[in-house]
Amino acid sequence: MRMGWEGEFAFHATNVPDVYPKRRDKPCRDVRVARPAGTISLMEFHELVRKRRMVRNFSSQPVARDAIERMLDTARHAPSAGFTEGQSFVVVTDETVRRVIGKLCGEDEYVEAGFHPFVSNAPVLFVACTNEADYHRRYQQPDKLNDDGTEIAWPVPYWHMDAGCAVMMLLLAAVDEGLAAGFAGFHNLDDARELLAIPAEVTPVGVIPVGHPAPDVRSPSLKRGRRPDAEFAHWERW
Ligand SMILES: Cc1cc2nc3c(=O)[nH]c(=O)nc-3n(C[C@H](O)[C@H](O)[C@H](O)COP(=O)(O)O)c2cc1C
Repeated sequence: MRMGWEGEFAFHATNVPDVYPKRRDKPCRDVRVARPAGTISLMEFHELVRKRRMVRNFSSQPVARDAIERMLDTARHAPSAGFTEGQSFVVVTDETVRRVIGKLCGEDEYVEAGFHPFVSNAPVLFVACTNEADYHRRYQQPDKLNDDGTEIAWPVPYWHMDAGCAVMMLLLAAVDEGLAAGFAGFHNLDDARELLAIPAEVTPVGVIPVGHPAPDVRSPSLKRGRRPDAEFAHWERW
């Protein structure tokens, strides 16, 4: 199928202000995940970022399959060291499995502490994964080896950084869809692996519950307040 300005799935901006002509009118490469014409998101990046927060309650309204696919398509454009692409997601919508995942994230303790069951109640869970072994395999390829033929000494575990990049993209993509997302870590990674048939070499980093936001209890951590600018950005030197 021809993809372009006039294509059936092309983004169109005819009924909206022409603020991002170059970037916004580009059609999505993949017809499976393209937004239908007329449903283009016009949220500015700044607004999108400010709107994102970890949400801990969702309504029972389901999330459309095409919205899930668009979020995944966004997340897979995250950067990765050596283009290893060691990040991946397990998408879970099955209610019974969601409940077990909630247990593996300590949802009972959240509820006891006054939070909603925000993992099991979210209509879709994205289990973010990273594969360290993929990075070692990639960095043993000729273009990545040291001159003496050895693998680099990893300055930082880039497999974790890359997972974070993909998770961030997914969190923002959820907001872009008019949805909300949160995060919860697993208490025991092997239990998560067993439940979801995740290979032993893959690390399930945590769960991103996504859904339509409902009034929630905010994290007490937020009382700390945001750090002063000078502690975040060190200009020219620390
Ligand atoms: C690596 C990481 C782990 C987190 N773990 C949890 C978690 O297990 N449970 C939870 O409710 N929130 C978790 N959070 C969310 C943080 O509490 C939240 O991002 C922080 O309080 C700032 O709030 P905001 O993201 O809404 O701006 C996690 C966030 C990150 C980045």
